[in-house]
Amino acid sequence: MEIKIVDKAKEIQCDVLIIAKFEDLPTSNTLVNRFAPDSFTGKKGEIFVIHTQKEYPSEYIIAMGLGKKEFVDGNIIRETIAKAIKKCSEIKAKTVAIELDLAINSTEAIILGTTIANYHFDKYKTKKEHRITEIYLENTTEEEIIKAKTIADGVKLARNLSNEPAAFATPTKLAEIAQGIEGLQTEVYDEPTIREMKMGAYLAVAQGSTQPPKFIHMKHLVDNPKKRIAIIGKGMCFDSGGLDIKPAASMLNMKDDMSGSACVLGVMKAIAKLRPEIEVHGIIAACENMPSGNAYKPGDILTAKNGKTIEVDNTDAEGRLTLADALCYACDLQVDEIIDIATLTGACMVALGSAASGIMGNNDEFVKKLIETGKNTGEKFWQLPMWQEYRDNMNSDVADMKNTGSRYGGASAAGMFLKEFVCDNVKWAHMDVAGTAFLEKPQKEFSKGATGVGVRTILNYIISQ
Ligand code: BES
Ligand code: MN
Ligand code: ZN
Repeated sequence: MEIKIVDKAKEIQCDVLIIAKFEDLPTSNTLVNRFAPDSFTGKKGEIFVIHTQKEYPSEYIIAMGLGKKEFVDGNIIRETIAKAIKKCSEIKAKTVAIELDLAINSTEAIILGTTIANYHFDKYKTKKEHRITEIYLENTTEEEIIKAKTIADGVKLARNLSNEPAAFATPTKLAEIAQGIEGLQTEVYDEPTIREMKMGAYLAVAQGSTQPPKFIHMKHLVDNPKKRIAIIGKGMCFDSGGLDIKPAASMLNMKDDMSGSACVLGVMKAIAKLRPEIEVHGIIAACENMPSGNAYKPGDILTAKNGKTIEVDNTDAEGRLTLADALCYACDLQVDEIIDIATLTGACMVALGSAASGIMGNNDEFVKKLIETGKNTGEKFWQLPMWQEYRDNMNSDVADMKNTGSRYGGASAAGMFLKEFVCDNVKWAHMDVAGTAFLEKPQKEFSKGATGVGVRTILNYIISQ
C-alpha cells in the first residue's frame, strides 16, 4: 500500500474519501448532511457509506463516527479507521483519501489502522484477497509517515511469521530472516557453540527435533548509547508438547509458539531503520519441541547457563527452559533493561483471554511504564503477581527447581521460574502473550490469526527513551 501526502484530501480523484463525524459537532460536509440519515449521529465506531453520484471527486464517501471530539484519541482513530478500511474492501475500493480534521497528531493511528485492516495472509491461496493500493493523507509530514510505516512494517513482519506454518518458519528460517535485516550486526550460533555456552536447558528442549536449533543475536550498536536494552522472544517454531504430548486440539495452533520471536524480528527490523540512540539486542533461542527417541524426558535434570539445575517435571513447559538460557545470555551483555515476550502459558490465556497480555517483572516502575506505553498504542497489558508462593510450588527433591509448579496460577509460576535466571542489577519485564498473539476470531482492527502483539509497545517504548 502506497501512502501519499496531499494538500486537500477531498479534492483527490479516488474511489473513497473517508471523513470523520463527531457526536457533538455538526459536520460541515454538505454531502453527509444531504445523504446521511439523522440516525447517523457520529457515535464512536459508526460507519456510513454514501455514493456520490459523480457530484464529488471520489466515487464514495465513507463517514465514520469518532464520538465526542474532546475524547478522540489514537486508539479510537486506529480502530475506527480500520473499520472504514474494511468497508472500503467490501466495496472493492483501491484508492482512498482520508480527511480528518483533528487537533491531535493522528498519522501513526491512521497508518496502523489502515495497514492492519488491509493485511491478509493469503500467500498460500491461489485467489488473492482484495487490497487497498493507495491512501492519500493531509496534514502530515514525510517524517511522521516514515516512522508510522516502519512500525506498521514491523507489525506486518511479525504477523506474517507467526501465520506461517512450522514447515516454513523453522529455526533456520528465522536465523536467515534475522541475517537478512540490513543495518544490524547479527550473530547466529549453532549447536556446538550453544553447547560451549553451556545452555543446557535450551539444548534439552531442542534435542528431540530433526530441525537444528539456532541461537540468534541481533545487535543495534551506537556510540555512547543513552541506554542498553535486550529484547528476548520465545522462538518455539513448533510446540508439540514433547513426550508429554499435547492433545490434538491444543496442538493445532502451536506454529504460533514463536510469536515472541516474530515480535523481536519485527521490532529489530524497525530499529535498524529508525536507528535510535539506544543500544538494542534482539535475542532468540529458536528450536522445536518434538517427541522422538532423542527427546528430553520427564525426570531429566538440566543445567542452565547460570549453573542452576532444573528437574523436568513436564516437557510441555519448554518455553521457560529456552528463555532461561536466553535470559542468562542477556544478563552477561550487561544491559540496563530486559524485556522478554513469550506465548508462555495456557494459564495466562485462561486468566485474560485475548483482550490483554500478562506482564510481570522485578521492577514495578519499569512494568508500569510498559503498561502505559501499551495503553497509548492500543496493546493492553495486565500486571500479574510475582509472589514467593508460586516459587515454593516448584521446589524439587533432586534439583534446584522443577520446571512447573501447581496446576493453578500458572502464568505467575512461569514468571517466578524465569526470575531465577535474571541477574539482580537489571530491570526485567516478562510479557505472556499466549492469549493475544493469535486470534481464533476477528477482534477490533485484527482479522483471525496472528496479531504481531508487542511490536507496537516495545518499539514505542524504545524510541521514546
Ligand atoms: N506454548 C504453550 C503455551 C500456550 C498455550 C500458548 C496456549 C498459546 C496457547 C506452552 O509451552 C505450554 O505448553 N505451557 C503449558 C505449561 C504447563 C505444562 C505447566 C500450559 O500452559 O499448559
Ligand atoms: Mn509447551
Ligand atoms: Zn510452548
